[in-house]
Amino acid sequence: MKKIAVAGTGYVGLVTGVALSDIGHEVTCIDIDEAKVKRMQAGESPIYEPGLDELMTKNIEAGRLHFTTNHREGFANKDAAYIAVGTPEKEDGTADLRFIEAVAKDIAQNLTGDITVVTKSTVPVGTNDYINETIQENLAGNHNIEVVSNPEFLREGSAVFDAFNGDRIVIGADSEKAASLIEEINKPFGIAIYKTDIRSAEMIKYASNAFLATKISFINEISNLCDRLGANVEDVAIGMGMDGRIGAQFLKAGIGYGGSCFPKDTSALVKIAETAGMEFELIQSVMNVNKKQQLLLVEKAKEVLGNLNGKKIALLGLAFKPNTDDMRESPAIAISGSLLAEGAEVVAYDPIATPNAKFFMPGGVEYVNSAEEAINGADTAFIVTDWEEFKNLELSVFAEKLQEPVVFDGRNCYDLKQVKDANIDYYSIGRPAVTREEAKELSKTN
Ligand code: UDX
Repeated sequence: MKKIAVAGTGYVGLVTGVALSDIGHEVTCIDIDEAKVKRMQAGESPIYEPGLDELMTKNIEAGRLHFTTNHREGFANKDAAYIAVGTPEKEDGTADLRFIEAVAKDIAQNLTGDITVVTKSTVPVGTNDYINETIQENLAGNHNIEVVSNPEFLREGSAVFDAFNGDRIVIGADSEKAASLIEEINKPFGIAIYKTDIRSAEMIKYASNAFLATKISFINEISNLCDRLGANVEDVAIGMGMDGRIGAQFLKAGIGYGGSCFPKDTSALVKIAETAGMEFELIQSVMNVNKKQQLLLVEKAKEVLGNLNGKKIALLGLAFKPNTDDMRESPAIAISGSLLAEGAEVVAYDPIATPNAKFFMPGGVEYVNSAEEAINGADTAFIVTDWEEFKNLELSVFAEKLQEPVVFDGRNCYDLKQVKDANIDYYSIGRPAVTREEAKELSKTN
């Protein structure tokens, strides 16, 4: 059992802290937000993450998990201090390291003995050296400090599952002693551990996210070609994914990636390359494709319905993906902005992201409390997030409640066979359109 401090209780910090306490370590999570710390002390997670509240309560009750706003209490007498604060994107695409710098100073001024500092936050290559320098410069007392890069690969919505079942744990260290300590801390997870140097570990994180984003933009471009040529992107993805060298995951075509990682990390990587004197053309294209893809439903709707001015459009789903209330970089933001600019009315529903959405979405969007309420009387519906709730909708609701039974599905939620009996016109991503006209013809010939 080790004594661990975790600075920052966002998605990454909180899930990491809770998971480390669950495998037996004594963990103190530190955050500057007092109201948030009070909620967490009561076992309440400030973020929506399946399974997190239960795990928090269990480990608080076992006396292994603590929350504080007090840096002295947080960093004193610890074996390791994890940095898990945000690295938001600045206007110019680079990562903002203000919070990282502040935590480095806090650690330096509040530690009481030797400590290993573990960077979980995604930071540009070379930042761990900078963290080390910042700590050394601000150090109160004569202590030995080691810095380790230990990037996270948690997916929102399944972060708790991923913490215990990830594919690998990457440890980047320049000393064997520091690497061994972090290896020992992580061993109970039973996940493969890969040890390397600090800079390579920092790069593994960016390269992994950029590669996954590339897979998504790739299949999205293929889907747009399938649309033009009458192929079905889902069949194409299955056929491609059966090749072990390609792999079946992250080949789901849709209206582009969003979230707190892919958009930020791809633009940071392009900037990192630029600073190193290299133009990262591939990732730049991945980003351009994604930007275009986010507006695909609007383009399709204009093609099918003509002018959208005055049309009422139901948005089903706002979060960037299901099982999260995170709205960061969600395609819903770009879609509603574009629809409002076209003069359309937007009525939106999300099972849990609406309170967050109100901060992120453009003004002028109307929010309602159910999918049916959004659809009722709207001219057409856009499916933006593939929530189970939408996948399980009785499809007859579209034909019954929409003015014009035309549905644009940005996440391929329904089987085309199922849609053929629903008496709607249905446009999805990279799959042939299903129209009432065509379904009627088909039933005549059968
Ligand atoms: C991602 C990485 O998966 C994780 O390892 C990293 O640490 C943080 O970033 P996350 O952003 O939570 O996690 O979500 P993820 O499930 O990876 O999905 C990201 C986006 O890509 C979503 O908008 C999703 O809808 C989209 N996506 C994903 C696709 O469009 N197609 C796919 O096949 C997969």
